[in-house]
Amino acid sequence: MADNERSSKQGTSDNDYDALLTKQRKMEHIEICLDEDVQYSIPTMFNDIEFIHNALPEIDKDAIDLTTNFLGLRASAPIIIAGMTGGHPDTLAINKRLAQAAELLRLPIGVGSQRSAIENPDLADTFRIVRDEAPSVPIIANIGATHVDSALQAIEMIDADVLAIHLNPLQEAVQPEGDCNSIGVLDKIADIVDSVEVPVIIKETGAGISAGVATQLDSIGIDAIDCGGAGGTSWSAVEYYRALKEEDEIQSYLGKIFWDWGIPTALSVIMILDSTDLDVVATGGIRTGIDVAKAVGIGAMAAGVAIPLLRAAVHGTTEDVVYELNKLIEGLRVTMYLTGCNTIDDLVSRPLIIKGELAESLNSLGIDYTRLAGGAE
Ligand SMILES: Cc1cc2nc3c(=O)[nH]c(=O)nc-3n(C[C@H](O)[C@H](O)[C@H](O)COP(=O)(O)O)c2cc1C
Repeated sequence: MADNERSSKQGTSDNDYDALLTKQRKMEHIEICLDEDVQYSIPTMFNDIEFIHNALPEIDKDAIDLTTNFLGLRASAPIIIAGMTGGHPDTLAINKRLAQAAELLRLPIGVGSQRSAIENPDLADTFRIVRDEAPSVPIIANIGATHVDSALQAIEMIDADVLAIHLNPLQEAVQPEGDCNSIGVLDKIADIVDSVEVPVIIKETGAGISAGVATQLDSIGIDAIDCGGAGGTSWSAVEYYRALKEEDEIQSYLGKIFWDWGIPTALSVIMILDSTDLDVVATGGIRTGIDVAKAVGIGAMAAGVAIPLLRAAVHGTTEDVVYELNKLIEGLRVTMYLTGCNTIDDLVSRPLIIKGELAESLNSLGIDYTRLAGGAE
């Protein structure tokens, strides 16, 4: 995942060693994600959002239009294959299957952090395969916030339409080799925003983005935020298993106590939209088409999905990835049918019931969510 991408101030051999570790970590992360339970035990809070069932939808389910505007680009549905991998020879086949599925279904796709291929250009083909196999869909490049110099290279490597800059302080803090000096990160992101011509998304990787952080990011001219909220894959959990293997007791202890740290995905989306006019992607624990519909219902432009698609791509074929995506698409379509929505815009204006912990959290933050009861427009 978001490798801990330090810019090395050390000598070349240390750089080579870092590159090797980054490459190894890619596969370790995938193995842990698929072999262990690394999900948050707290919910995304989408369970605290309900649509109002419409017994007289008066629309034709088969005529529902899921087409979405994704940062000025067209997507066949508001669903993104979240950035996950690349950077180890074994990841080429995984990215190939994900990209083929993206192309078949006309959905945007992200790649994992490209730092490894910038350190070692021999690995660039593990990312470039995504553009080769998905020539006509929006592709999202991915780098860490401290890598201003790599932004253009990352975009060019895969002919990307969008750049995602990931933030992962939780993972860094619980990772045995994590880099926890975050001073100046906002300025570095601002430099990247100034240096590239494609839209920039700032992406958390599981702990969510608050209203305050969204406001700071908005002030430096970014285009969108992927909230990467809590409730799905926990990077603290992933690092817990790595630390356990390395017999690092303090780090494994930290991985365990911070397992459920973060802002749940639904809460994070509402916080960002309450404080900015930025476009938002809801990633983190999106598991059904109903989750996708709820994310759009509260105002997200799209929902991102990672681990279920990774599982299909590693253990299965392109058809298995397509199958997982079709489950999301058809779940979304049925939700739209049962709420009388012909288009994605209709979904945004449907009234929602906000209850439970989500309502309590919004109340305690002083966020007025009555607009959602009347539609998110
Ligand atoms: C194996 C794996 C690797 C990942 N690597 C990255 C990465 O390099 N950059 C990034 O921004 N997010 C990365 N992510 C985070 C995902 O994009 C996503 O935000 C997160 O997994 C939550 O989604 P989920 O609950 O659907 O898994 C990775 C996720 C997985 C499962």
